Amino acid sequence: MAGKEKKNKGAENRVKSSSRAKGASEKSKPSSKKDDAGRRAVIELKELCKFYKMGKSEVRALNGVKLKIFQGEMVAIVGPSGSGKSTLMNMVGCLDIPTCGSVYLFGRDISKMAESDLATLRGKTIGFIFQKFNLVPYLNALENVVLPMVFQGAPLPERNRRGKEILDVVKLSDRKTHKPSELSGGQQQRVSIGRALANNPQIILADEPTGNLDSETGKSIMQFMRELNEKFGKTIVIVTHDERIAKTCDRTIFIEDGKIVDRIHAL
Ligand SMILES: Nc1ncnc2c1ncn2[C@@H]1O[C@H](COP(=O)(O)OP(=O)(O)OP(=O)(O)O)[C@@H](O)[C@H]1O
Ligand SMILES: [Mg+2]
Repeated sequence: MAGKEKKNKGAENRVKSSSRAKGASEKSKPSSKKDDAGRRAVIELKELCKFYKMGKSEVRALNGVKLKIFQGEMVAIVGPSGSGKSTLMNMVGCLDIPTCGSVYLFGRDISKMAESDLATLRGKTIGFIFQKFNLVPYLNALENVVLPMVFQGAPLPERNRRGKEILDVVKLSDRKTHKPSELSGGQQQRVSIGRALANNPQIILADEPTGNLDSETGKSIMQFMRELNEKFGKTIVIVTHDERIAKTCDRTIFIEDGKIVDRIHAL
């Protein structure tokens, strides 16, 4: 699904408008080379390893992962519990440092970037969605959605404008003053999707986004993620245990014992 046509230019421009308003320059936008098929790898992992020392023993959470994810793809990561899926997401999201190997985002080796440049790249290009929503309980829906903009130093009027725009996209305009405890599970996950969209990232990383939802709500969240992928061209990586969910993605990557495998026999 690389190079997928944007099907809704108007909506796309609406979501992009905040970064333009902030004067985000094209120059600051990272890029990457296209491969022979004209696809642009926005994420590339080269022989990625993450080992944890536990006393005298060592846990090999990731053990030589080689992977490319292309712009506009919606990819599922599937594997048994403890196989390294969340570790992989943390590495891609620059939340943790590899033991060996490299992570390239938009063609740039993140280990060679200054900490401040990496924080900016992460904040502007990656949005996270978690299984347990991770919303701040004392903030309302609008305040939760704009939180990443606070960290990026966006002024209050800009945050309010953008926050309302996003609540519209996640179909929660009528719930903006509701706290997480006053929302259903699916609504809370839509708030967290909204928060992931706050800085208009190109990549969305979702670790078991439907894990805490019933299957119907999970299905509607997945349809929603697909919409974000198709309308706004977001590159989406979804960790899931559920093969039905994986089947709705463009491609499934199987991971077992910290390695990418062709298929998994029992989940
Ligand atoms: N901070 C840590 N210290 C030591 N070991 C860890 C740490 N984090 C993860 N591990 C180990 O690394 C392996 C991979 O963990 P990870 O959380 O990536 O698995 P997962 O595939 O996401 O599992 P699940 O489906 O249960 O969420 C596991 O064996 C886990 O015990
Ligand atoms: Mg996990």
